[in-house]
Amino acid sequence: MEKFVPVVVIKELSETDKILTALKQSGIHTAEITFRTACAAEAIAYAVKNYPDMEIGAGTVINAKQCEEALAAGATFIVSPGLSESVAKICAAKNIPYYPGCVTPTEIMAALELGITTVKFFPANVYGGLKALKALSAPFPQVKFIPTGGVDRSNIDEFLAFDKIAAIGGSFFVKEALEKMEAEK
Ligand code: 3PG
Repeated sequence: MEKFVPVVVIKELSETDKILTALKQSGIHTAEITFRTACAAEAIAYAVKNYPDMEIGAGTVINAKQCEEALAAGATFIVSPGLSESVAKICAAKNIPYYPGCVTPTEIMAALELGITTVKFFPANVYGGLKALKALSAPFPQVKFIPTGGVDRSNIDEFLAFDKIAAIGGSFFVKEALEKMEAEK
């Protein structure tokens, strides 16, 4: 996984090209396409086919059905806002990385029991940000985090400086990439 994981919401399939092209032009080759819109699975399938140089995953996957749909569409990683044991089991069986949202010691322990050592920390700004991550890293030195939610240019560097950060997630990567593309027109 790359260091930056843009959280992508595709409302219409026709927006996919613009968003993925903008991300690529910004040097980002990963997209977490979220199951928040009806066309998510279709957008993933389209992205996998037309952007073979990008790593296309599925986000906001909250149940087994969405996970199966995402994998059938070709997603190569799965992200959830929380921890779903059924999603974890499907991903483990197919050898697909799964990044569940975990913000408490109990949730992290549940992830570890499922064999997961990299978790999404969401919403990072609400659950204590970097201070919380540092505190959680004391009992869980084997765990790497993907802080997401409220991360932007103002605080990304402090997260990146911490060695337990696997990657940074956020919708702001998409916003920035689109703005950059617009400005360069
Ligand atoms: C997510 O699902 O990961 C979040 O909606 C992203 O949060 P952000 O919009 O604050 O980056």
